[in-house]
Amino acid sequence: MTELSSHTLSAVDGGPRHDADVARHLRAGGVSVIITADSGAMPSIVYWGADLGELDDDALHEVLAATEPRLDNSVDSPRRVGIVPEASTGWLGAPGLQGHRVDGSAWSPKFVDVRHEVHEKTLTSRGSDATAGLELTVIVELTESGLLRARAEVSNTADSGYTVDRLAVTLPVPPVAHEILDQTGRWAKERVPQRRDIVAGTHLRESRRGRTGADAATVLVAGERSFGFQSGEVWGLHVGWSGNHLSYVERHNNGHTLLGGGELLLPGEVALSAAESYSTPWVYGSYGVGLDEQAARFHAYLRSRPQHPTADRPVTLNVWEAVYFNHRLDTLLELADRAAEVGVERYVLDDGWFRHRRSDDAGLGDWYVDEGVWPDGLSPLVERVRERGMEFGLWFEPEMVNPDSDLARQHPEWIMQTGGRMPLEARSQQVLNVAIPEAYEYLLARISSLVSEYKIDYIKWDHNRDLIEPGSTARAGAAGTHEQTAAVYRLLEELKRRHPGLEIESCSSGGARVDLGVLEFTDRVWASDCIDPLERQQILRWTAQLLPPELVGNHIAGPRSHTTSRTHDLSFRATTALIGHLGVEWNIAQATDAERAELREWIALHKRFRSLIHTGTVVRPDAPDDAVVVSGIRAEDASEALIEIAMCARPAAWPPSVIRIPGLDPERRYRVAAVGPDAPRTITASTPAWQRDGGLELTGRALGLVGIQVPPLHVEHAALAHITGL
Ligand code: GLA
Repeated sequence: MTELSSHTLSAVDGGPRHDADVARHLRAGGVSVIITADSGAMPSIVYWGADLGELDDDALHEVLAATEPRLDNSVDSPRRVGIVPEASTGWLGAPGLQGHRVDGSAWSPKFVDVRHEVHEKTLTSRGSDATAGLELTVIVELTESGLLRARAEVSNTADSGYTVDRLAVTLPVPPVAHEILDQTGRWAKERVPQRRDIVAGTHLRESRRGRTGADAATVLVAGERSFGFQSGEVWGLHVGWSGNHLSYVERHNNGHTLLGGGELLLPGEVALSAAESYSTPWVYGSYGVGLDEQAARFHAYLRSRPQHPTADRPVTLNVWEAVYFNHRLDTLLELADRAAEVGVERYVLDDGWFRHRRSDDAGLGDWYVDEGVWPDGLSPLVERVRERGMEFGLWFEPEMVNPDSDLARQHPEWIMQTGGRMPLEARSQQVLNVAIPEAYEYLLARISSLVSEYKIDYIKWDHNRDLIEPGSTARAGAAGTHEQTAAVYRLLEELKRRHPGLEIESCSSGGARVDLGVLEFTDRVWASDCIDPLERQQILRWTAQLLPPELVGNHIAGPRSHTTSRTHDLSFRATTALIGHLGVEWNIAQATDAERAELREWIALHKRFRSLIHTGTVVRPDAPDDAVVVSGIRAEDASEALIEIAMCARPAAWPPSVIRIPGLDPERRYRVAAVGPDAPRTITASTPAWQRDGGLELTGRALGLVGIQVPPLHVEHAALAHITGL
């Protein structure tokens, strides 16, 4: 935890009766958060939303008075709901901390004698319950971008053991929030939005997969009726954790609506001995007017982290869909040559390079280069890749093991299991218990030695099954997802420490490990195994609710999608991949010369706009028809924007209307012009003016209020508009 300068919250006293003895107004990035606490009690959030401006003590006092808890036919002295809600305050919703001792005591603590410490925009509150033998710490921080984050820690101060069943933190949402939007999905169709009204009760999203999940809520949004990308107040919550987790919206008929989140703990998973503590992951809260503003707060926060990648994101070639398990040196060398010719900067050798891995039935765990397939090791390939000026990346799936592997035969006790039986296999694999020190050391040594030997720049770190019955043999089969997730984080961190500059991609059957926990230690995510651009339009649109484009791997695949069998022109595949961390996943050695020449142009176009794409603000203008999907990126200083207009279905109206481009400087004049290798070559009477004769000049105000016309695109085609300030 950060060292805190120690001064208490400014006391607010005098005036009409209210129950707050202390209060703090945090302001940053257009957001205000007011936190208060009863005398000696744990903190509550009174307000979280748009910036309230400068508030002196009197004004702050008024806000507290305006929000003071009132009698609700429950307790006689109503209290505010804590960030970690406590039943001892009269709260009858889900308590933030749930746990007990073996004799049944300590199940409903009351934390008192709370000390608050403030350090810049971080508030740390620590209270204790001597009878229960527990201490609770709550940390709330408002980051520069206005992103709120909170976590809690419980410590066992008694001699007997204390089992934690749940520790969640909550953020209040005002009653104007009427709708919930979160995400679901499945393999190869991640981050599908779903929407419903908020009603009394709990909308609970649980992930019990031992990984984030292709169906994770990702960002659980509560907002005003009909909120969209540009309009309506929205409050969103994300749990930064790659194991089991929960997020929920809880509405009560006493006026309270809470967003809550934390780790989902399996029975007995966290049992604290004397003096031990358990800490939740960070739970993030993002407020905005419209989903774009909410996303921008996540993006700005991520970009402010010291480890955020700043160098140009190298255009990548991944060989998976090009060769699958068919590793032949001559094919892979030729791919390297062709890749360099079209402008690729990083070459990634995917699954299939290690011992016994001729299919997905065997070999996971045997992290030695397969001597049969690679008699001279990987050096002949790595050398060619470097000669061609590219970086080299390698695929691993460290947490997994095939029963048909030397590792499983040598160490069956490293496989997660409970009840004296093996869990059901998935993709013919089981889960290696990374929390067992010897298993951890084995993985660290193998990966580290390969990274050193081949000077690997990049690891694609995969995780291809859910954790079913993940017990630890080291602890009599006790539930072990929590310790597994923590051990994997340690392993990632240690590899990064040992190999400065090493980049790691978080992949999990495509995009099933996309969260801010794993992104503390990794540099991009693989959004989905589905590279069909039509599907990707949606996957990327909603992945962007959490992540900026430079963290999202986005590849151009071959003409016919391997997951959907749809066929698309290169222009649609490339335009869709452009706003992201660009890659190619296609056997371009078998492509035609014309295809390679066009691909080269698309890669050059990405490089031309790369710094804009990887630093700008994501814009997803609302379109006139669901058939039209518009995504873009605007320079932070509004000097430029790149807008992609995709025709994803056949629109009801023809010609298909206009789209407004938000966020440009109203006073400034801009040139709007078509850009890209497929900028319309054939001009017809329906071609919009901005696509003809060098484009159109409009003010930022006109672009925001009048907009530009949607071109008459064929279905499953896209166009690019480049907007430059004059
Ligand atoms: C997962 C990944 C793919 C590929 C395969 C290899 O499915 O998502 O990109 O790496 O594993 O087995």
